[in-house]
Amino acid sequence: MAAENILVAPSILAADFGHLAADLQKVIAAGADWLHLDIMDGQFVDNISFGPAIVKLVRGLTTLPLDVHLMIQRADHYVPRFIEAGASSITVHVEPEAKHDVAETLGLLRARGCRTGLTLNPATPFAAVEPHLPTVDLVLIMTVHPGFGGQSFRPEMMAKVRRARELRDSLGAHYDIEVDGGINAKTARLSIENGANVLVAGTSIFKAADYAAAIRNLRGG
Ligand code: DX5
Ligand code: ZN
Repeated sequence: MAAENILVAPSILAADFGHLAADLQKVIAAGADWLHLDIMDGQFVDNISFGPAIVKLVRGLTTLPLDVHLMIQRADHYVPRFIEAGASSITVHVEPEAKHDVAETLGLLRARGCRTGLTLNPATPFAAVEPHLPTVDLVLIMTVHPGFGGQSFRPEMMAKVRRARELRDSLGAHYDIEVDGGINAKTARLSIENGANVLVAGTSIFKAADYAAAIRNLRGG
């Protein structure tokens, strides 16, 4: 089997916000494929990050795809602002605590020409996303409980990655399979072996001395 193209999406949550533009230029030059932007509202998750203004600022720095991960309530209400700010894909949560109609939000994204992503917390069974799989462009398997960077990878989530891959084949679907949380060279390898093709990584890239080497190591050297 030909080696699959593995995409690396640095999570800017771990970047140096005092020198954000310079730090992002550095990670882009180091070979990032996408940039991952974590939006947290202090309600759906117990942390507050940033909003559309930062997405717009990042859009002004690069033409790379901006992969926006909404960890917020009422995504249906907020997605237009993130699309206008320059999101390329928007990933929403399937849990009832996210307080939106998932099918409706995905439809809204599609109608606006934005790539659609769906994700689930570690505690949520994969069955929750299954009804939506034929219509999404990306499935994000959370490998930590969302809200904070720097947590430890949960290897038991690999069963969900394998299920996403099996169903993609059996449905003839084309969605990306992305992992997010605690991704370093070792856990990236495990994720790729189980079927992931997009790796989100904050700490293991932005806390490394050499971003290019860190990105290369995530892809498997
Ligand atoms: C967690 C976020 C992640 C986070 C990953 O809630 O969705 O994208 O930034 O950070 P690391 O790579 O440090 O686990
Ligand atoms: Zn994320």
